[in-house]
Amino acid sequence: MKLDGRVAIVTGGGSGIGAATARLFAAEGARVAVLDADGEGAQTVAAALPDAMAVAVDVSDAPMVDAAVANVVAEFDRIDVLVHCAGLDVGEAWKQRLYDASVAQSKARTAGEPLPALGLTESLDDDSWRRVIAVNLDGTFFCCRAVLRHMVEQRSGVIVTMASNAAQLGVAGMPHYVASKAGVIGLTRSLAREFAPLGIRVNTIAPGGVDTPMFRRNAETVRRSAVANAPLGRVATPEEIANIALFLASDDSSYLIGETVNANGGTFLP
Ligand SMILES: NC(=O)c1ccc[n+]([C@@H]2O[C@H](COP(=O)([O-])OP(=O)(O)OC[C@H]3O[C@@H](n4cnc5c(N)ncnc54)[C@H](O)[C@@H]3O)[C@@H](O)[C@H]2O)c1
Repeated sequence: MKLDGRVAIVTGGGSGIGAATARLFAAEGARVAVLDADGEGAQTVAAALPDAMAVAVDVSDAPMVDAAVANVVAEFDRIDVLVHCAGLDVGEAWKQRLYDASVAQSKARTAGEPLPALGLTESLDDDSWRRVIAVNLDGTFFCCRAVLRHMVEQRSGVIVTMASNAAQLGVAGMPHYVASKAGVIGLTRSLAREFAPLGIRVNTIAPGGVDTPMFRRNAETVRRSAVANAPLGRVATPEEIANIALFLASDDSSYLIGETVNANGGTFLP
C-alpha cells in the first residue's frame, strides 16, 4: 500500500474530489482526517473508513484551521500529507447571471448586432470577491501554514493543493474564482521552493471539469462545453483526480515539486 502508516488531512473531504481522495487514501493504508465546513458530510465520509476522524472547520478562518490541525496531531501524532480540496465557486445566482449574459451575447452575435456587455465584473460586489478569495486562496494558505509547522519539525511531508484549469484559461465573468486559483498555483510554487530543502514536497492539481456536486450545479450548456473542450470527450470522475492526488502524495512522485498537473482531458492540447 502506498500510504501505509501515514497520516493524511483531506480538506473538503465531505464531498466530491475530497471525499474520493479520503476513501482512496484510507484504502492505501493512511489514517485520514476529513476536514470540511460541512461537518455532517465529513462525519459521513470518515465513519465509513477504518481509521479516520472528522473535523468541522471553515478553512477561511485561520484560528479554526490551527485548532483543527492541532486536533489531528493530538489524535494521530503527526501529519504526513495534506490534500487541500476545500473550495467554492461563484454561486448559483452569479452563474445564472453569467449564463443569461452569455446567451444575450451569442444572440446578438448571430443577429450581427453590436455585442452587449456581460455587465458582470463591473458589478461584482466586494463581499463576493472577498469570500471566494478568502476560501480558495486564504484557506489554502492557512491550511498549508498550519501543517507546515508540523512538517518542518518532522523534516518530511507532502502537500497537494487544488487549482483549476480556469486559472490558466481565464473565464469571462469569473475573475474572483480565476484569480483565487491562479493564486493557488503561485503559492504552491513558492512553498515548493521554500520547503524542498527541508524534505517537504508541494504540488498542485489543476482539474478541468470533474463530475462532483460543484460541477453539477453548472448550467447544462456549461457542462456540455466542458465535455466538448476535452479531447477525451468527457469530464473526469472524482476518483480519477484522487488517483493523481495519490501519485503526488506518495513516494512515486519523489522528484516532483512545484508542479501543476493539468488534469483536464487534453483541453490544453494545441
Ligand atoms: N468539480 C470541478 O469541475 C472542479 C474543477 C476544477 C477545480 N475544482 C476544485 O476542486 C476542489 C474540490 O471541488 P469539488 O468539485 O469536489 O466540489 P464539492 O463542492 O463537491 O466539494 C467541495 C467541498 O469543500 C467544502 N468547503 C467549501 N467551503 C469550505 C470552507 N470555507 N471550509 C471548509 N470546507 C469548505 C464543501 O463543504 C465541500 O464539501 C475545489 O477547490 C474546486 O474549486 C473543481
